[in-house]
Amino acid sequence: MPDSPRKQPPSKYTADRSIPGAFEGETVTRRRLMTLTVHGAGAVAASAFALPALGFAIGSAVFERPPVRWEAVGAPGDFPNDNYLPRVITTVEGIGEVGKTTVYMRARNADDDPKDAGVQPFIAISNRCMHLGCPVRWTQAASRFICPCHGGVYGFKGEVTGGPPVRPLDHFYTRVRNGQVEVGPRYSVNSEFKRFPSYRDPGQGLDGLSQYVYPGRFSTPKQ
Ligand code: FES
Repeated sequence: MPDSPRKQPPSKYTADRSIPGAFEGETVTRRRLMTLTVHGAGAVAASAFALPALGFAIGSAVFERPPVRWEAVGAPGDFPNDNYLPRVITTVEGIGEVGKTTVYMRARNADDDPKDAGVQPFIAISNRCMHLGCPVRWTQAASRFICPCHGGVYGFKGEVTGGPPVRPLDHFYTRVRNGQVEVGPRYSVNSEFKRFPSYRDPGQGLDGLSQYVYPGRFSTPKQ
C-alpha cells in the first residue's frame, strides 16, 4: 500500500489559516501589516523629534562657523542719541542683496544700561520682527518700531509693547575703530535684555524654559 503523502509543515512565511483574514499563500497577514504600519509610523514620529535634536547636538562639531564680520557704518558724530538712523550691512557675503539687512543705529543715552557699554558703545537694532520675521520700521513720531504684517509694536529700546512678537528685537555688537562706528555679529535678548550670543530665529522665545527649548544656531559666527 503506497505511503500517503506527507503533510508539509507550514512555512514561517505562510500565513496560519487559523488567523482571521489570512488565506492560503498569503505571506503577510492583515495583523502583521498593521503591526508593521504602526511601527513605521512610530519610527517616523520618533525621528521627527530625535533628528533635529541630534543635528543641534553635533552640528557645531561638524559644520564650520562663519567668521565674524565688522562693517563701518559712519562716524560717531553721525548718530543722535534720541532717534534711530537706518544703515544697511552685509551679514552673509557672496549672495548679493539677500545677504544684506537693515540695522537701526543711535548713540547711547542716560537711559541705556551702563553694563552694556563695553559691547554696545552704539545701539544697533535689527529690523527683523520677532514674530515671523517681517521688516519692522522705526517711526520717529510714535517713538516705536512698527511691523506692518500683524501689528507687532516695539518700544524705543526694541522691547515688545504690543502684538504677537515673542521677544525684543535682536541687537548687534558695535565698536569704534579708526574713527568709524562698526557693526558686528547679531545677538538676541530676552525680555530682561539678557544677551544670547547664539541668536535665535523669529518666533523663538527666550524667557524661562523657552531658552532651552530653542537652542542657538550652530551657524552663529564664532565670537
Ligand atoms: S511678522 Fe511682525 S507682527 Fe507678525
